[in-house]
Amino acid sequence: MTSHTYLSELFSLDGRTAVVTGGSSGIGRAIAEALARAGANVVIVARKEAELTATVDELTAAGCRAGWVSADLGTRDGVRAAADEAAAVFGEPDILVNSAGINLRPPMSDLVDEVWDTTMAVNLEAPFLLGQRFGPGMAERGFGRIIHITSQQAHRAFVQSGAYGVSKGALEALARSQAEAWSPHGVTCNTLVPGFVMTPLNARLASDPDKVEALAARTMVGRNGLAEDFAGAAVFLAGRGSAYVTGQAIFVDGGFSVH
Ligand SMILES: NC(=O)c1ccc[n+]([C@@H]2O[C@H](COP(=O)([O-])OP(=O)(O)OC[C@H]3O[C@@H](n4cnc5c(N)ncnc54)[C@H](OP(=O)(O)O)[C@@H]3O)[C@@H](O)[C@H]2O)c1
Repeated sequence: MTSHTYLSELFSLDGRTAVVTGGSSGIGRAIAEALARAGANVVIVARKEAELTATVDELTAAGCRAGWVSADLGTRDGVRAAADEAAAVFGEPDILVNSAGINLRPPMSDLVDEVWDTTMAVNLEAPFLLGQRFGPGMAERGFGRIIHITSQQAHRAFVQSGAYGVSKGALEALARSQAEAWSPHGVTCNTLVPGFVMTPLNARLASDPDKVEALAARTMVGRNGLAEDFAGAAVFLAGRGSAYVTGQAIFVDGGFSVH
């Protein structure tokens, strides 16, 4: 057996279909590209059409099969419509990646109901509803992969974690509940935990060079994260080779959390 055949057995996503929320930017975009280049048909979901079409054009030009759905995952109706539209592109997904997320950072004393509700809707309820929509089908077909993107703030307070940290902590608990429900049927459910990654989500913090440097110094690798750092871990969790890994929070943070 050649190494190529062996690696394909472990990691190839040929013939699989993936839905990646937030696949038009940052970490989600890098994961969408990684899954597509590993062989999956990928549907990305976000609001802004310009970013969605630009991403899909880039993937298609690279020889990948990709489609997009524009939807607001901040409402339950929006999530349900997005799920149906996404499944209509290449069929019911084998892989669901929940990367769409928002981080509004009011100090705790100023955190109003609206910020709390919006944060929970996008960061927690959308992944829950998409899991309810796709998880049972994956279990019935005997294969599925659910990957949530959480945050170090699921584990510790950091720069006004407020509602954001709560939503990410709950998302890790959701992954464990989903794993408990569906892993007996071939569906693994895990989370990838970033540290500080230079993406549009962090534009404000990233514009302060001293803070950026201080954060890099807190890692073991000696630099902040890049969206591409998530490619390998996402392909691993999406493929056959990770069948016995479930309910886990896997830190992709250059050692930030253990330094
Ligand atoms: N960057 C970091 O340091 C870091 C650290 C820890 C965790 N994370 C997590 O990693 C994930 C990705 O973050 P990122 O840094 O890659 O952020 P990003 O570059 O800002 O991307 C966020 C994505 O989510 C989509 N999105 C946001 N609100 C949406 C809504 N209501 N409906 C549909 N789509 C929506 C955005 O597209 P539209 O705006 O077009 O809708 C975009 O595609 C998030 O869950 C975030 O919490 C990031």
